[in-house]
Amino acid sequence: MPDVPLPRSVTARAGTNIALVKYWGKRDAALNLPATGSLSLTLADLGTETRVRFADDAGDASGRDSVMLNGAPADEKVAARVRRLLDLVRARANITLPAEIVSTNSIPTAAGLASSASGFAALTVAACRAAGLTLSPAALSELARRGSGSAARSIFGGFVEMARGERTDGSDAIAHGLLDAGAWDLRLIAAITAVGAKAIGSTEAMDRTARTSPYFAAWKDAVGLDLHAARAALATRDLAALGQVAERSALRMHACAMAAEPPVIYWNAATLAAMRAVTNLRASGVDAYFTIDAGPHVKVLCAPAAAATVETALRAVPGVMQTLVAAPGPGATITEEITEETS
Ligand code: PMV
Repeated sequence: MPDVPLPRSVTARAGTNIALVKYWGKRDAALNLPATGSLSLTLADLGTETRVRFADDAGDASGRDSVMLNGAPADEKVAARVRRLLDLVRARANITLPAEIVSTNSIPTAAGLASSASGFAALTVAACRAAGLTLSPAALSELARRGSGSAARSIFGGFVEMARGERTDGSDAIAHGLLDAGAWDLRLIAAITAVGAKAIGSTEAMDRTARTSPYFAAWKDAVGLDLHAARAALATRDLAALGQVAERSALRMHACAMAAEPPVIYWNAATLAAMRAVTNLRASGVDAYFTIDAGPHVKVLCAPAAAATVETALRAVPGVMQTLVAAPGPGATITEEITEETS
């Protein structure tokens, strides 16, 4: 039973995260269990704020959860994903009330950067609290994973590791914090190389890669060593070592996906040109390292003092439309909680 009275309106905020050791492939699609572990950096400022309210009058005209995203009703696919997560929260809290969800991304929408990580982390934290549940960060991470694999990591701030887990119920496929946001100040600069949604969603692309890429087994086998090397680099704050792991993890993930049938190719000409700009920067003595997610954008890791140089170099790349600079940020937190008067 809920341990606080309903109805209440709870707002939570979460930063998105960028994986330095990538998650690519699932060991269980229904529970969204990853085939490998992963390691990421949660970002400040680029994120999602989500308000959740469970009440008799909270649903839409048909009585279903009402889901607003960036000021407009969410499209059906997104709303269905949100409702699936809310069903898990309701089952756990033993309530049946519909919810009103109002979610806003601070990630520029045109930028096409993943917002599912911050979106499902903020939704999970706000919905659990609004339903009267008090869950540990680990339990929140497990639940957020059901919405999006990478969301499990955005529950925590700074550098975060997500465990593959061994159990079939997914109870050990959760993230934990490795280094707080304040422990190692770095910058992540995103070079935006296209507008609009990516060609193929990560779930479908992962499934296709796992089924058809002859390199999928090799990809899975290599992740353990990457995680080990990344943890060691974090412990000694060794940017060159961390950057080397990040680049090879991203390249291996994409190589594995490109070898699927039909191929999964996220890059465009500007993606390659931006990667080249980063290697050129390194050749000129600037410590900077790229990573690329399920899209054409290039994200570059560097020390704060190098950020302006890196940003200038990326802006000069033909096809780079915009750059965004982000610092390490905190984990998902509740920002407002209003308990409504009941008569
Ligand atoms: O969380 P999902 O299902 O959108 O998958 C994320 C996949 C990558 O962003 C490409 C890698 C990662 O670990 O975040």
